[in-house]
Amino acid sequence: MLVDIKGKDVLTTQELSVDEIKAILKLAKEMKKDRFDKKFNQLLKDKTFLMFFFNPSLRTRISFEAAATELGGHAQFLEPKTMRLKKTSQGVEVQAGETIEDAAQVLARYAAGMGIRILETSVKHYGDGNALLREYARWMNVPIINMADDKYHPCQGLSDVMGMEEHRGDLKGKTVLMSWAHGALARSYCSVHENLLITSRLGMNVKLAYPKGYDLPEEEIAKVKKNCEMNGTKFEIINDPYAAYNEDVEFVYSRNWFGPDFYEIGKEAEIARARKMTDWICDQERMDRTNNALFIHPMPVDRGKEVTDEVASGPNSIITDIAENRLHTQKAIMAMTMAGLKVKI
Ligand code: CP
Repeated sequence: MLVDIKGKDVLTTQELSVDEIKAILKLAKEMKKDRFDKKFNQLLKDKTFLMFFFNPSLRTRISFEAAATELGGHAQFLEPKTMRLKKTSQGVEVQAGETIEDAAQVLARYAAGMGIRILETSVKHYGDGNALLREYARWMNVPIINMADDKYHPCQGLSDVMGMEEHRGDLKGKTVLMSWAHGALARSYCSVHENLLITSRLGMNVKLAYPKGYDLPEEEIAKVKKNCEMNGTKFEIINDPYAAYNEDVEFVYSRNWFGPDFYEIGKEAEIARARKMTDWICDQERMDRTNNALFIHPMPVDRGKEVTDEVASGPNSIITDIAENRLHTQKAIMAMTMAGLKVKI
């Protein structure tokens, strides 16, 4: 079948069909193999991709810029402070009486697509960042790509599973362990949600380990459970830092995330609480109990807290391969949604 997602917004992989996910991954792998082939390097010729960053980034900004260049186009970096935008309790608003409706429709006349990053520290309430993306998507008739919001990070999820497949083949029936880890960064849910959603969607068993009190939002867990039910796979929650590491596990993702009361207690209180739980770290002794598991992480890694150096730099760590895949998955998304490239699966 031929998959066509021209004009589609990519806000979370949960809103793509499994065939669309497979098509993006297939194209991304081909683009990785034939990186500078002329069949790809003019797809966005003379086109501009806008990148709106409310929060900082290393991988996302650079990989999207490189992706636009390698497709023959140009990526333009925009910051709210240079765009007359201000934050409100509802998220973000355009100043000088200009609404998102007006600004978005103008931007769509200039660009082939737009990416937005807006994390929890740029909004007051959980979900406001995602709502902002949906508001831009409502008014722009070119694709909106989520470059990480307070709920989802689809490009990261696609790059995770691309790396996992490259190293271990078909993921169906394999087990991923997503474990909370201590740290001093009070990290967002977006990469964690996206990995849980896409791995369960692609037929993996999911183990989720975290200390009591660090539940992820119920609506996302309900989706992960449903994905597992539909695939006949297992979903388990374990409130113990050691017990989830066993011989079923083929992938370990160890990552800090903030507690559900983060928006009330704030970053400092969250960090003070989380940094004490030093038992929650991925180390070699735990990895040795698994089925030769690969270590995965979206980066930046909080070494010595989320994971030991021994594991992060060890032979089973595929974090750099996954980070590289951001470039290839984003090229595939841009080629399909903005240039209209169709992919046979
Ligand atoms: N993983 C990720 O999105 O990295 P950056 O925050 O550096 O973009």
